[in-house]
This record gives sequence, structure tokens and C-alpha cells, in this order.
Amino acid sequence: MDPRRNPYTPNAGAMPPVLVGRRGEMEAFEVLLDRLRAGRTEQSMIITGLRGVGKTVLLTEFGRIAADRDWVAIEMEAAKHDDDRFRLELARESRRALLSIAPRQRWGERARRAARILRSFSMGIDPDGRLTVGFEVDALEGHADSGFLDADVQDLMVSLGEAASEHQTGVILLLDEIQLLETSQFEALIVAIHKTVQRSLPLVLVAAGLPQLPALAGEAKSYSERLFRFPGIDSLNDDEARLALSQPAAELGLEFLDGAIEVGLEFTEGFPYFIQEFGQAAWNLADAPRVTASDAEQARLVVEEKLDTNFFRVRLDRTTELQRAYLRAMAELGPGPQRAAAVARMLDRTTQQCGTIRSKLIEKGLLYQPQHGDAAFTVPHFDRHLKRTIPDLTVPPIRHRHP
Ligand SMILES: Nc1ncnc2c1ncn2[C@@H]1O[C@H](COP(=O)(O)OP(=O)(O)OP(=O)(O)O)[C@@H](O)[C@H]1O
Ligand SMILES: [Mg+2]
Repeated sequence: MDPRRNPYTPNAGAMPPVLVGRRGEMEAFEVLLDRLRAGRTEQSMIITGLRGVGKTVLLTEFGRIAADRDWVAIEMEAAKHDDDRFRLELARESRRALLSIAPRQRWGERARRAARILRSFSMGIDPDGRLTVGFEVDALEGHADSGFLDADVQDLMVSLGEAASEHQTGVILLLDEIQLLETSQFEALIVAIHKTVQRSLPLVLVAAGLPQLPALAGEAKSYSERLFRFPGIDSLNDDEARLALSQPAAELGLEFLDGAIEVGLEFTEGFPYFIQEFGQAAWNLADAPRVTASDAEQARLVVEEKLDTNFFRVRLDRTTELQRAYLRAMAELGPGPQRAAAVARMLDRTTQQCGTIRSKLIEKGLLYQPQHGDAAFTVPHFDRHLKRTIPDLTVPPIRHRHP
């Protein structure tokens, strides 16, 4: 079929032609907005899930739902930034939020105050006041100017919440890749949310990240468990996956024949990103308005090859030989979570000797710890890729350091 009309979206964060499933999460989100708007409190949400499962897409959808209800969204993607850069990003987004809450001419007393606090907040990183240019306000001394990130973020967020409340709206902070935040930044957000909850202000954090997060948040502040819910999103179930695969094509007159869908379901195991890749390949291969089982088999090979040379490959490129051996040993043990001791044994090492390798792999976002002592791949089907591309399990020798 004509690749120009191909509807599938195998790209990071790309809104799929049919957004399947996730009803529960969307409803929970709507309830959250309505409760906050009514002055009730509600836990913030941190969505966790493996790579390519649809976290960014869900956050985008949340942004749309929020906009439909005239909420103001601050969208940020976390990165490994120092605290100053984090402050700058937050200030820039807060400026945007403040102007969305109301245009400057219509600002009430609380919005004007938030603008002054934003000026204080950004003083150190923006001494010329470019961030608040046109606001015609002075910094509000003693607010958000302590230099302590947590206290300052708290002052800023509270002031934004108050401004939103004054103008009968709410602010939602949508933060993607939250596992990349430094602990100090994460803590600052937690402290701020704690305060806005205490004051029943319409400001909420909805974030997404890799599954190691609940543990991270727990370390950051012990009360975070009560402040946040951590809904996990997973691969689509069979009915949903079937729909995600067949409907975009059906809408454009291409039908998946019996057997073809099954190949797709088996291959993708319902992982949204793989579904999009598979759908795209199947569409391109079909030469009648039908995808046959043999087209589907062919599509599977095309996708496998593409994943091996791109999706998986870029992740392995960032690893050392030892780290790759560790991943390969895990793959040998199976796709699920593995005990640290079992992996170490495969490598003829002790758990302690493998400790650094493992923590580096977690830091690089390739592994996460579903529970203490276990590690699992953050990328679905990584085990298959490792076995395909590194056929032999080799055990690198231990290098002894000489004095
Ligand atoms: N509910 C869904 N139905 C169908 N396709 C989806 C759905 N959610 C996401 N996708 C598709 O899956 C792919 C991955 O989505 P997305 O980038 O949101 O994942 P992610 O979890 O943010 O991944 P990463 O951890 O790598 O950032 C995209 O190609 C997107 O179009
Ligand atoms: Mg994403």
C-alpha cells in the first residue's frame, strides 16, 4: 500500500491514530481535576511503565483533557540538568502558566503577587529580568529568593496555585521522564506539592517515568507515598492490541486477514510501540487492500531487523563490555526480573563484584529494580534482542588491580 498514506506512528511520543485502552487512567485523571477544582484534595499521579508503552502519549492526552476544562498545563521534560537549569526551565514554564491563567491586564491581586514571586524566584539565574519582562512588577522580597531550591519552588508553586484559584482555573504540571530529575529537584517538587495539597490549591503534578520511580520518590521524602499514586501502564490486552493494529488500516480500507493479526499479536505482545512498527511494516508490504499471514510474517522480520539496528542498538551502544555481558547473562535467565545473585553466578562473580555494573545499568535507564535484590529490563523484548545479536554468553575475566 502507498507508504504516503501509512497511518501508523512508530515514533516516540507520537499520538497514535487510535488511542486504545487507558480508559481507567483517563477517568482517574478527570476525577482528579474535578476534585481539585471543587477545592478537595487528591493525590498527584506518577505514571510508570517500560520504554515505548505509551507514557508520553498518555501525558499528552492528559494535557488535552485539562485544556478542554480550561486548566493551564505546564509541560516539562526532565533531563539531567543542574539545579540552576531546572530553576530556569521551571521559571519559563511558570511564566507561560501565569499568562495563561489570565492576560496581564486582567490579573487579580494573587496573580500579580505570583508574578512578583516569579521575579524573586528567577533573580539568581536571570538577573536582567528577561523572564518577567513586560510584567512591570518588582520582586517580592523574602519569597522564593532563599536560594534553597525546595523552599523557593514551594513559594512559586503555592503562588501559582493561588493565582489559578483566584481566576477560577487550575494548574497541572505535566512532567515527562521524571526519573532523570536529580533528587534535590524531585524533593523540591514533592515539598511544593505537599504544601499546595495542605492549602487545597488547584495545582497538581502528573508525571511519567520508568518503573524505578516509586522507590526514588520514597527515598526523596517519606510522605511522598501518601502524596502520589503510581499507576503503572502496561502492554495492551489482546482485544485492545487487535484494535490498535487493525482499526487504523481499516479506516483507510486495508484489512488484516485471519492469521495476520495473530502474527502481530504474538510478535508485539501488545506493546504499543511494537504495534505501531508492525502496523507500519505490514501496511507497506501489503500489495492488495489486504494483509495476508505471509505479509505479516514478512513484516515481523522487517521490524525485527529495524529494532535490532535502531531501537535496541542505540541502548547497547552506551554500554561497556562488562555491562553488556551482564545484560546478556540476564537475558539467558529469561525476560522477567532476575535476582542479583543469580546473574552474578552466571558471570562467575559475587553479587558484590557485580554491584557497580548493575547500578550503572540502572543509572543509564536500562534496568530497574521492581523490588530490592531484583533487576529487570526497562525495554520490552530486550532479552530477545540480546540473544539474537550476542549469540554466545561469554564471561569476561575479572581484572585484578595491581598495587
Ligand atoms: N494507547 C495506545 N494505543 C496505540 N498506540 C499507542 C498507545 N500509546 C502509545 N502508542 C504508540 O506507542 C509508541 C510509544 O509511545 P510513547 O512514546 O508515548 O511511549 P513512552 O512510554 O513514553 O516511551 P519512552 O519510555 O521511550 O519515552 C508510539 O509510537 C505511540 O504512537
Ligand atoms: Mg516517553
